[in-house]
Formats: sequence, structure tokens, C-alpha cells
Amino acid sequence: MKVEIYKDKNEGGQAAFNIIKSGIENGAQVLGLATGSTPITLYNAMTASDLDFSNLTSVNLDEYVGLPIENDQSYHYFMKEHLFNKKPFKKSYVPDGQAADIEAAAKDYDRIIDENPIDIQILGIGRNGHIGFNEPGSSFDGPTHKVSLTQSTIDANARFFENESDVPRYAISMGIGSIMKSKNILLIAYGEDKADAIKATIEGPATTDVPASALQNHANVTFILDEAAASKLS
Ligand code: F6R
Repeated sequence: MKVEIYKDKNEGGQAAFNIIKSGIENGAQVLGLATGSTPITLYNAMTASDLDFSNLTSVNLDEYVGLPIENDQSYHYFMKEHLFNKKPFKKSYVPDGQAADIEAAAKDYDRIIDENPIDIQILGIGRNGHIGFNEPGSSFDGPTHKVSLTQSTIDANARFFENESDVPRYAISMGIGSIMKSKNILLIAYGEDKADAIKATIEGPATTDVPASALQNHANVTFILDEAAASKLS
């Protein structure tokens, strides 16, 4: 596992971009993508670049269940807004949170991942160590699945919605097992409020109490951190 520490999220985003750029130059065809505030500086670097993604496939980590894709809080919307409208991919997959049968959609998504093996997976991390919507307690070999959001996640996301009751109660997320199939993983974290999760992920035991600590069992993981997120590493 490699740990790279940068001054701030702008330098971190540029470093993540450079890794993706050289990955593509070396034949990467499928990128695994995340939403949230963390990858925005990376996506800004991607949209500002002259790199062409129109021969690549992207596979996103997760989506809310029941939120129309036109809703500005949906992850479909986020990805269009921050990346796909400016830099279209040949094919972009985001889990179908509007499927009538979410369990079937989850199974179908793992088939998509198997057919499009992810060369480089981008991850953010939650303050409790979650990756995707895999909260503490999630199995390290779990497949894509329907997730019941914890009250703390609902509370954290309530700021993006008019009312707390508008926050979706379920999501569909790649499981840790699906994520671990990626050939390379780039976990990005910025800010002091991620420092405990980063320390537990990198220096603690691999335990389902800290979902990201599963990455200790992966052969090709790079952590892109800013100084604040790295501040508790020994
Ligand atoms: C996003 C995702 C989440 C976020 C995590 C960090 O697709 O799966 O695990 O990466 O919640 O979110 P931010 O980047 O907003 O701090």
C-alpha cells in the first residue's frame, strides 16, 4: 500500500489525475468513479485536461434508491454535472436506484463489473471508514446490494435536502467484495475530519468495524491524502 501526502485537495486532485492519466496511457479502459466532495478536484483536473475519455467505460460506486435521476441530489445528476457533460465516456454505468427490483438490479450491476473489470477505482472515505455505502459491519466480500442507510448518514445528508424526510432511506452500492475486484484502487481523503478514519484504515487491524481497512488485503492501493487527513498517521 502506497501513501502519498499533498499540501491540499488541489495538489491531491492533480496527483490523482496524473495517476489516472498514466494509467490510461498504459492501457486502462475502465474507471471506477465516486461522488461526494472529495473527487471534485480530480474531476476538475480531468475536465480541464485534453485527455479523451470517449473510448473508456466508467462504473460508479453507488446511487440512492427511489430518487429520480433528474433530482440534483442523485448521483447520476452529480456525475453529469461534474464530469460526463464535459467529458463523455463511451459508456457510463451508475447503479439503477429506480429499478422496480433493486435486488435484481444489484445482481445485474455485479455482472456489469465482471464484464468491465475496473482498472482504477476511485474511492472517498466516510468519517466512520465507510467506502461506497458500506457502513461499519459490512462484509469484506459482499456483492453489490441494497443498503439501508444509517440514521447518522441520513442526518449527514439532510443538509442537501429541503427536509430530513426527503432524504432517501435506501441506496444501492457496490459491495466491498465488488470494490476489491478492481485492479488498482485510489483512495482519496482530505481534511482533519477524515484523519481518524485514515489512521484506522492504514494502521489499525483489518476489521469490518472500519470498512476501508479491507483495502489492507488488496495488492495495489494508493492513498492520496492532504496533510490534515494524514495528520494522525505515525
Ligand atoms: C460516494 C461514496 C461515499 C463517499 C464518502 C465521502 O460515491 O461512495 O463513500 O466517498 O461518503 O464523502 P465526501 O467525499 O463527500 O467526504
